[in-house]
Amino acid sequence: MQPRSILITGASSGIGRALALTYARHGVFLALIGRDRERLEDIAAAARAQGAEVSLGQLDVRDQEAMARWITAADARHPFDLVIANAGITTGLAPGDLAEEPAAVRAILGINLIGVLNTVEPLLRPMGARGAGQIVFIGSIAGVRGLPYAPAYCATKAAVHAYSESLRGRMEARGVRVSLVIPGFVKTPLNESIETMKPLEISATQAAVLIQRGLKRGRAIIAFPRSLYCLARLSRVLPVRCVDKVMAHFKVIIPKTQERIR
Ligand SMILES: NC(=O)c1ccc[n+]([C@@H]2O[C@H](COP(=O)([O-])OP(=O)(O)OC[C@H]3O[C@@H](n4cnc5c(N)ncnc54)[C@H](OP(=O)(O)O)[C@@H]3O)[C@@H](O)[C@H]2O)c1
Repeated sequence: MQPRSILITGASSGIGRALALTYARHGVFLALIGRDRERLEDIAAAARAQGAEVSLGQLDVRDQEAMARWITAADARHPFDLVIANAGITTGLAPGDLAEEPAAVRAILGINLIGVLNTVEPLLRPMGARGAGQIVFIGSIAGVRGLPYAPAYCATKAAVHAYSESLRGRMEARGVRVSLVIPGFVKTPLNESIETMKPLEISATQAAVLIQRGLKRGRAIIAFPRSLYCLARLSRVLPVRCVDKVMAHFKVIIPKTQERIR
């Protein structure tokens, strides 16, 4: 069934923006969260032009109280049947660096993990009580196996993978579907900040179409590209030191953080 009331975090850019546009049409309510007012207004105008009703939440996903207040109020007006916890940043290490900045590590845990909890927690009981809807987590192939270039990013995504699996076991018994999206390289500002080879990279619009199709089919895992995902899964069963050696050969430069300096 086509969802009619949709919450998307990180809707002001990249995959979240593309998802908002993919779902925007007459009869659809979009609750869009991000921090950048200008980019939020821009996506709102584009979604409204496609016929959707839009409500903007200029919020930091780390703000538990503000998130709960805004999400609960929006859910009371338009009970959500699709919730996509997408907002995220990346952090990493330059070649030769040994340790990530502690502040950057805490910022990414706050956004990529606590921000995800702040998104879904206010809705678990209401959606469970309604016995309907879908909750979607945006993970990453980097969450399947730890990579030496981005320890904290991988840790946040692995945690999101585990959390979504746990939630699936509980929520699906109540009629709420839980899906985990595991993307490879998707061309977005996040991805563009990383210097490395990006095999099988796709556009944000292509990613949104794959996600929408997978969700329509009620898939528990929506992973793309399949070959990269299978390789990541394989790397988990191969001898760990062999995989470490292979990983050490790739040159990857990731910014210390994408978190805004305020
Ligand atoms: N692109 C890839 O190759 C790739 C691959 C695997 C997984 N992913 C995952 O996909 C998700 C979306 O990433 P993207 O590539 O689309 O990145 P992006 O274009 O940089 O967009 C990130 C979004 O997250 C929002 N955001 C960041 N921090 C926030 C905060 N504290 N509070 C509220 N919103 C915040 C940003 O909004 P504001 O700037 O307005 O705050 C923006 O809308 C992330 O979870 C990422 O880890 C991406």
